[in-house]
Amino acid sequence: MNERAEWKSSELACSDALKQLLTRHSVGPKHLVPPAPTEEQVWLAVWSALRAPDHQKLLPFRFVLIPDEMRPLLGELFADFARRSGKSDEEVVVERNRAMLGPLLLAFVVRIESGHPRVPPHEQWLAAGGALSNFLTALHLMGFGAKMLSGRKAADPAICNVFCGPGETLVGWIAAGTASKAPHPRQNDNPDAILRRWQPPQGLQDAPQ
Ligand SMILES: Cc1cc2nc3c(=O)[nH]c(=O)nc-3n(C[C@H](O)[C@H](O)[C@H](O)COP(=O)(O)O)c2cc1C
Repeated sequence: MNERAEWKSSELACSDALKQLLTRHSVGPKHLVPPAPTEEQVWLAVWSALRAPDHQKLLPFRFVLIPDEMRPLLGELFADFARRSGKSDEEVVVERNRAMLGPLLLAFVVRIESGHPRVPPHEQWLAAGGALSNFLTALHLMGFGAKMLSGRKAADPAICNVFCGPGETLVGWIAAGTASKAPHPRQNDNPDAILRRWQPPQGLQDAPQ
């Protein structure tokens, strides 16, 4: 068996958890119906987010639960952004309704400490991304669908300011709930496209050992 085939045979030893992980796909808010994850399940997903690698444990991210009764208020902010962006009345209605889609809605906020002596910004962003990924995967493992969404409105100062403090970035919103239909992958994943064995540059290979 060559090295590569040996590597690939590890699929046979795929644990149930890993099989589950390999079937996570985002589910858009239009296809999310009740029941929503309970607060305890959200708490577990947040706990999972805390298991993502995070250099110096800076916690450069946080989740904000948006209570149902606050959704109309968020809808007005979305509608206001759409109006300011020159959208038609119909499009404004669509934008307003986006705040009501999905049984559960959270905002995802990141705070990057740019002058940190040990942890550069890209590592902090990666920690936040890992946390987001763990959060979505945990929801999937508990049987829920979810999707991370942003759009131009996430960068709008009027919307940003209602979620963020100074120095924070509103990444966007996570819609979660029960998938009303089986999610389908965007494309076939191909690990070979992003996995390479290191080939040192020629000069380095010729150097005396
Ligand atoms: C930070 C972030 C923001 C995103 N914003 C959007 C968005 O506004 N609209 C969208 O359709 N997908 C957005 N996506 C992509 C989806 O969340 C999702 O990853 C994508 O549709 C691929 O689906 P998959 O997760 O099943 O591979 C965003 C992803 C990330 C990480």
